[in-house]
Amino acid sequence: MQANSSPKEAKYQRNQSVIALRQGNIVDQDVDVIVNAANSALSGGGGVDGAIHRAAGPELLAACRMLGACPTGETRITKGYRLRASHVIHAVGPVYRGRVQDADLLASAYRSSLLLTTQHQLTTIAFPSISTGAYRYPLDQASLIALQTVITYLDQHRDIALVRFVLWEDQAYRAYKQAADKLLSSGQEKMVNP
Ligand code: APR
Repeated sequence: MQANSSPKEAKYQRNQSVIALRQGNIVDQDVDVIVNAANSALSGGGGVDGAIHRAAGPELLAACRMLGACPTGETRITKGYRLRASHVIHAVGPVYRGRVQDADLLASAYRSSLLLTTQHQLTTIAFPSISTGAYRYPLDQASLIALQTVITYLDQHRDIALVRFVLWEDQAYRAYKQAADKLLSSGQEKMVNP
């Protein structure tokens, strides 16, 4: 994000749910659950993972240790501890290698996060752009997979009120905006207070 520029947000309606794209930091989100771009060991890391663990406090790592490992494409849930969000879903996306199964594994990380949200009767969720940092998934492909998976889920489940994608870099926001404009109709963009 550029200094002194207001973050942007775009909102789209899908059935009774809102899909939002917002420039910002995942740890600041006022939702029931934020999703962590985790590794299979659930051992913490850099990027989103580092930011979430720093903001949640050491209890989060202790809770992750109790859970053990999480295979690629799967998710685990913990409390949010010092975060605004009551829960964290730890989703393990694939390291991008250009294989056919990469797309299935990335879609699975999103779908499994949404299913856990439903199962825990939570209604608002914020995702980062899973796998597009250290795991090098190309943004143009990852954004289409992420949004299509969310749209398909919302067409089959009516219990989630808000799915927000929180995008750190301008480039990521632009890729998701382009994908959303392609897959969804009647989006509205505005500036939000940081
Ligand atoms: N809020 C929102 N998005 C963020 C933030 C943040 N605080 N920090 C980074 N990002 C963006 C990155 O710019 C990238 O576009 O999130 C996207 C995902 O990047 P990573 O966090 O590197 O996640 P991923 O590619 O899935 O790699 C996961 O990295 O930190 C390790 O332990 C983690 O091994 C795992 C791997």
